[in-house]
Amino acid sequence: MNVGIDKLAFFVPNTFVDMTDLALARDVDPAKFHIGIGQDEMAVNPTTQDIITFATNAAAPLLSEEDKKAIDMVIVGTESSVDESKASAVVVHDLLGIQPFARSIEMKEACYSATAGLALACDHVRLNPDVKVLVIASDIAKYGLNTGGEPTQGAGSVAMVVSANPRILKLNNDNVALTQDIYDFWRPFGQAYPSVDGQFSNATYINAFAQIWEEYERRTSLSFEDFAALAFHTPYTKMGKKALMPMLEKKKPQNADELMVQFENGIVYNRRVGNLYTGSLYLSLISLLENGELAAGNRIGLFSYGSGTVAEFFSGELVEGYEQQLRKVEHQSMLDARKRLNIAEYEVMFEEKLDLNHNKTFDDPTPYSVSEILDNHRLYKK
Ligand code: CAA
Repeated sequence: MNVGIDKLAFFVPNTFVDMTDLALARDVDPAKFHIGIGQDEMAVNPTTQDIITFATNAAAPLLSEEDKKAIDMVIVGTESSVDESKASAVVVHDLLGIQPFARSIEMKEACYSATAGLALACDHVRLNPDVKVLVIASDIAKYGLNTGGEPTQGAGSVAMVVSANPRILKLNNDNVALTQDIYDFWRPFGQAYPSVDGQFSNATYINAFAQIWEEYERRTSLSFEDFAALAFHTPYTKMGKKALMPMLEKKKPQNADELMVQFENGIVYNRRVGNLYTGSLYLSLISLLENGELAAGNRIGLFSYGSGTVAEFFSGELVEGYEQQLRKVEHQSMLDARKRLNIAEYEVMFEEKLDLNHNKTFDDPTPYSVSEILDNHRLYKK
């Protein structure tokens, strides 16, 4: 039985910063952000939009009434949750109107956890072919104003419906994971922004890909030549390239140029959004499918990386007619309709916080958004 991704969509908040504006405000050559880091725009959210509203806005357009009856598990992968105890998935489950006899959980391991969620979802569907699982990666990446990580921020969510006989990507159950206890990026309790050793985090990412790729080759006897495209966790768009290029130079596959062309197709959306943490790999997958010219049967490799660290490589094969399940027009119009903030507006929005100790109502027109703070919790508009 084939199991994998049946439906797939992303959501980003409706405001962004242009990276030239940010570079000039920070007295940096814009070419460093556009070429050196590889980012053109960066998504920024108002306080009335959080990882729960991103998640529901990404998932809602995907779900039919039949899906809502068949989904028996909701998994949200995030490292920027709104609660230390209650899972965001419980709220998402309610807002989306999913049938009540479901399991709803939140998973954490930096930018990696949605990949564990996807693997768990596939295993669950393999055992229970009639059910579906909603897997959502949702995050706000914030490093602080005037920090080295500032140009690698972003915000948004990717939602995936996992089912038997998927109509987009059949997953091959060939996952190779790697865990290493390393402090390259972490956020202790109570700390608003992560501690990060930027250059070290680049190095651990590159090293994790090299180690996993060798192990994947050893276990499967596949090579780069068996892949039509590779998608990477994308904290900034240059990162995946920095990991892939040395391995292509080492292995010298005949399709190296083609893999680099597809790599560029896989970062079109990420260049306009920035880092989604858990969602970045899956945004890159959407970008690849909606901007690349791939065919049914093509094998795609996915490299997931979460600081701390857990990394994983796995593959899927495109299903006949997958193009018809994509939402290219909706995604591009959402990106194009966003408002460009000036740097003063961005800095004000960046510092705003929701105060749970004072009741207050809000009027954000975004379909799902925080409508009220009441008695120390958030209420959401459906
Ligand atoms: N024109 C063109 N390119 C320029 C330039 C110019 N004027 N000036 C500099 N550059 C290039 C540099 O040569 C460099 O290119 P290479 O990487 O190819 O060498 C690139 O721009 C970046 O320059 P620096 O390394 O000097 O940049 P930096 O010190 O400001 O730090 C960063 C960059 C480490 C990514 C930093 O933004 C950061 O810490 N970001 C957060 C951490 C992160 O994203 N790490 C990624 C791996 S961890 C992960 O993946 C998990 C996660 O999501 C966080």
